[in-house]
Amino acid sequence: MLQGKTIVLGVSGGIAVYKAVELLRLLTKAGADVHVVMTKNAQEFVTPLTFQTLSGKPVHTDLFNLYQEQEIGHISLADRADLFILAPATANLIGKIAQGLADDLLTTSVMATTAPVLIAPAMNTNMYENPIYQRNEKYLAELGYHIMTPASGALACGWEGKGKLPAPEAILTEAQAVLSPKDLTGRSILVTAGPTREEIDPVRYVSNYSSGKMGFAIAEVARQRGAEVTLVAGPTNLEAPAGVCCVRVGSAAQMREAVLAGYEDTDVVIKAAAVADYRLAERADQKIKKSAETMILELEKNPDILAELGRLKEGQLLVGFAAETENLLAHAQDKLQRKNLDMIVANDVTRPGAGFDVDTNIVRFLYPDGRIEELAEMSKHQVARHLLDRVAGLLVDRT
Ligand code: C5P
Repeated sequence: MLQGKTIVLGVSGGIAVYKAVELLRLLTKAGADVHVVMTKNAQEFVTPLTFQTLSGKPVHTDLFNLYQEQEIGHISLADRADLFILAPATANLIGKIAQGLADDLLTTSVMATTAPVLIAPAMNTNMYENPIYQRNEKYLAELGYHIMTPASGALACGWEGKGKLPAPEAILTEAQAVLSPKDLTGRSILVTAGPTREEIDPVRYVSNYSSGKMGFAIAEVARQRGAEVTLVAGPTNLEAPAGVCCVRVGSAAQMREAVLAGYEDTDVVIKAAAVADYRLAERADQKIKKSAETMILELEKNPDILAELGRLKEGQLLVGFAAETENLLAHAQDKLQRKNLDMIVANDVTRPGAGFDVDTNIVRFLYPDGRIEELAEMSKHQVARHLLDRVAGLLVDRT
């Protein structure tokens, strides 16, 4: 998403400047070409040398020096940028932009750009809550500036409350969202993720190794592309992506209930969850005591949620996942037909770089007409982007 994009990272003077160093690292790692502009006050906290070393480019600090260069610095930066990120953005910087002031290189460049501007504010809680600041923020949001909500917590000034710079990872995600095509706007997408947990007694359960990473990535990217996303998640440690409605469930029965509740009003269902096929025939009310040398647990079949959705389908687009350890294509093809799906994502979970609890996946997309697309090993976020490209295409074909 950020590969090859030109990003101007504008850094203004707050204690959170050091976090912008981490943001620069993340942006560079994601393949962006990052040009850093620092205000005079920002340089009081961290020297330009730190940013220069990490970005591999000179840091821009001075309006008039750059005027004397061959190209006019602020205009060149403003023109070349695909995105401006202001992090940390102080109350002063935001106030100046809102008033149309352009008295240094950063404010001049922001004024001169037509690229989207993402603002990550950081300031004292009282400054944040000051009606003057709030008015400026609201005004800029109305003009189309993308403004993040600061995080809450203990601030460097000793106060507790809202005003901390959002985490660099959150700013990176928001930057991807700003630059994403909005081709899923107006679509409602339901994604399931993670394992389910089938209880044996109050302290034990049967489950699987699914981490939920694939489904969470799909939910995040779908939201970035403008969809209204509901994520039904089995037990995982993952945090719900911003802007996604996340319903946490435990067992397959609970997942079924949550999925069916929203099905009628949903355009697309993507079932990335690894639903347990069996549950305990009888869950013990009390902790089972250790006595017999061997023990047999009787299991009974869980409902197949996806097959049920396939039977109830009324125009929804249904995407399933097939995680297999053998005969990948044959099993995937069988599920595609049997569950009445529009597409299935097949992955051989025994291959290194694919499957449960890793950050990458190696998948194939299968369609009802027999077409098979093979993708190289890539991050789960990249798989999510490819998958949603196909989903967006299928939705367009239908209209
Ligand atoms: O049949 P199998 O479990 O391999 O099919 C996998 C696909 O079906 C996945 O998309 C999974 O989320 C879904 N599934 C389901 N309910 C089940 C079992 C699987 O929705 N009980």
